[in-house]
Amino acid sequence: MSLTIRDILAMKSDGNKIAAVTAYDYPSARLADAAGIDLILVGDSLGTVVQGRNTTLPVTMDQMVYHTQMVARGVGRALLMTDMPFMSYQQGTGAAMENAGRLIAEGGAAAVKLEGGSDAALERVAALVTAGIPVMGHIGLTPQSVHAMGGYRVQGKGQGEAERILTEARALESVGAFSLLLEGIPEKLAKEVTELLSIPTVGIGAGIHCDGQILVWHDLLGLGEGKYPKFVKPYAHLGRTIRRALKSYADEVKDNTFPGPEHTYH
Ligand code: KIV
Repeated sequence: MSLTIRDILAMKSDGNKIAAVTAYDYPSARLADAAGIDLILVGDSLGTVVQGRNTTLPVTMDQMVYHTQMVARGVGRALLMTDMPFMSYQQGTGAAMENAGRLIAEGGAAAVKLEGGSDAALERVAALVTAGIPVMGHIGLTPQSVHAMGGYRVQGKGQGEAERILTEARALESVGAFSLLLEGIPEKLAKEVTELLSIPTVGIGAGIHCDGQILVWHDLLGLGEGKYPKFVKPYAHLGRTIRRALKSYADEVKDNTFPGPEHTYH
């Protein structure tokens, strides 16, 4: 039986931290689920870590549905949530309803996440919640607004920005968001938001005081290339391990030692 929204809410009141990670396909979903991850997000980070793009902006609804279907087949216990990609809800409440409905009905997600705390975003969240679709809000550094923010930079450092983020958090809770993702904000502000709300906060680059943490699959497992941002802790270095394995395979093919007799039908 999968965790429900009620279980995730109860984790905050019971003081149990929420462990979340992104996943984009069946084998990763199975591994995350078996490891006891509470919440699996089919993130639109798909665009950067899987598709190799510079931003999340080109990710489409069809791609999110497709990847959600794959992940859904691998999830047993975790709550499955999918990101609403760029321009799937910004255009209006009708579009938001139709697209969130696809992620739930076609994809198999139990909840959706959307970015921002503007009046328009609040209207979309309220409509989805009224339609019975659980929504996680996402504030602070919102990657779909990369151009408006002038890059991927920590948000909420000044007093004015911090107050805006607190106001957005309160407003998202009041229109029915079941949880908030806090990305790229100072620890002190994330603590204030977390203490202010009765719904749980899940942080990425937002410090230790959030009710839970989320990391992107490729970052957590060390599958990325080059340097990781400060907030990432790679718990393994699978990129290195995979490269080594592939090199051994290629060497053995070239020097004629694979396949050996034990891998051959006689
Ligand atoms: O798309 C994504 O991976 C996200 C992260 C911030 C968790 O939203």
